[in-house]
Amino acid sequence: MVTGPCGSCHIMHASKQGIAQTPNRWLTTSDCLGCHTGTNSASGATPYVLTTGVSDLTGALAGGNFYFSSLTPANGHNPVGIGPPAVVTPPGWKVGFAANDQVGGGAASATWTSSQLNCDGTWGCHGGHYDNDMHGAHHHPPPSNPGQFINPTDTGSSYRFLYRIKGYEDSHWEFAKTATTHNVYYGAARTADLPQDVQTISYFCAECHGIFHSGAGNIEGVARDSGFASPWIRHPVDVTMPLDGASPAGSVDYDSTTATYNVNAPLASTSVPTASGSDVSASSNRIVMCLSCHEAHATPYYASLRWDYRGTAGSWSNGCGYCHTSKQ
Ligand code: HEC
Ligand code: HEC
Ligand code: HEC
Ligand code: HEC
Ligand code: HEC
Repeated sequence: MVTGPCGSCHIMHASKQGIAQTPNRWLTTSDCLGCHTGTNSASGATPYVLTTGVSDLTGALAGGNFYFSSLTPANGHNPVGIGPPAVVTPPGWKVGFAANDQVGGGAASATWTSSQLNCDGTWGCHGGHYDNDMHGAHHHPPPSNPGQFINPTDTGSSYRFLYRIKGYEDSHWEFAKTATTHNVYYGAARTADLPQDVQTISYFCAECHGIFHSGAGNIEGVARDSGFASPWIRHPVDVTMPLDGASPAGSVDYDSTTATYNVNAPLASTSVPTASGSDVSASSNRIVMCLSCHEAHATPYYASLRWDYRGTAGSWSNGCGYCHTSKQ
């Protein structure tokens, strides 16, 4: 929730006070990107998602840094203001696919041909996918257990203003994250191909990248057969990573000896705790999600990945190897 004098964020009569540009929505002094551009610090009160002139993710928050997609569009999202995107239509988008339908108010208007991604609004990520849904979010009172967003009823009560998504918010947006100080993403252990739980972080991504989220038996939104099993046609998401010693041996084995949360390959949890911890030894907090491999905004790497998947040997395999331990 924002605090401080109204005038540090709002301007009532923009023209009279010599501001040349069109007044911003909600009479704020700047637009989303204007307020959210800067350099993060340990005591910073505003989360900055665009920090220019840097070479790596030092100081970046949980979503990464849009600077890298402004330099190389394929390295992440390019909402309006960050420069032209690599592609306009989200990869994995399918008109009429259930998860996608809410964007643009329904499948009928679900074409991206001339609509660049935005921070919020119909073609945006924060708030529901329609205009003005950010209204009131910044002033929304925090939940009774600070950080624990378990009952999202509107944008302001949702995890990071992502409409109806649940999660635990690190108080400093993962600035200097550690195994015990981090966001906890909400995930689900799926039992069917199509999305069942619409409050997971992976479902959020699927609102635009729908067909990347489905189970093994589902191709492009059309059910191939019932049930889901290997082989998958895209990497499993919203599934539990088998516990140590599970069969088949060596399939996956995240941090086998200590089972400690690894900030480089985060796992989601089927419940939202009151604080973040380091234990990922129970099947309920070993859920693979989109953000296990990707960051939400942009990174120095292709496809906003957490590591250099397309890099040279020695670096390319590291990320996959966090989970597929025996293949490192
Ligand atoms: C740190 C920045 C900040 C401060 C300080 C701030 N606001 Fe806001 N306010 C915002 C932003 C950003 C929005 C637009 C987005 C939203 O509603 O979440 C907003 C939206 C609003 C809205 C429309 C949405 C709603 O919540 O009703 C009103 C009214 C408002 N502010 C009044 C105030 C008043 C009065 C004060 C001083 C007591 C104040 N604001 C202080 C940032 C701020
Ligand atoms: C006037 C400046 C201002 C504007 C304009 C503004 N923000 Fe913010 N925003 C802030 C501040 C300050 C915070 C930190 C508030 C807090 O600590 O809860 C914040 C927090 C956030 C957060 C983090 C919320 C959380 O749960 O921690 C998100 C997401 C966000 N803003 C998105 C947006 C989007 C999207 C827009 C445009 C619609 C926008 N902001 C416009 C100042 C602004
Ligand atoms: C509101 C729709 C929307 C949501 C929600 C969304 N994306 Fe995207 N995504 C897009 C669009 C549009 C593009 C292509 C344009 C661009 O990159 O800006 C894209 C591109 C991408 C790319 C490829 C980068 C590139 O430039 O080619 C990745 C990776 C990606 N998204 C991952 C995610 C992840 C992970 C999530 C969830 C945290 C997510 N997206 C949520 C709309 C969305
Ligand atoms: C966050 C943990 C995690 C990360 C990171 C990860 N995987 Fe996986 N992967 C899994 C899990 C869990 C399964 C499902 C295994 C099972 O249930 O037997 C899986 C399954 C697979 C499969 C088999 C799919 C099938 O049809 O059965 C392949 C191939 C694969 N992963 C490749 C990769 C590659 C390549 C990377 C790096 C880009 C990667 N994984 C990163 C956890 C992960
Ligand atoms: C196991 C790791 C892993 C997980 C989990 C994962 N991705 Fe990816 N994703 C990748 C890799 C690696 C690439 C780059 C593929 C390449 O280089 O060809 C990629 C590429 C993408 C792209 C760009 C596609 C393109 O055509 O360039 C999008 C969009 C995307 N992922 C979205 C998602 C979404 C949405 C989810 C969750 C539903 C998700 N990913 C889960 C590893 C993953």
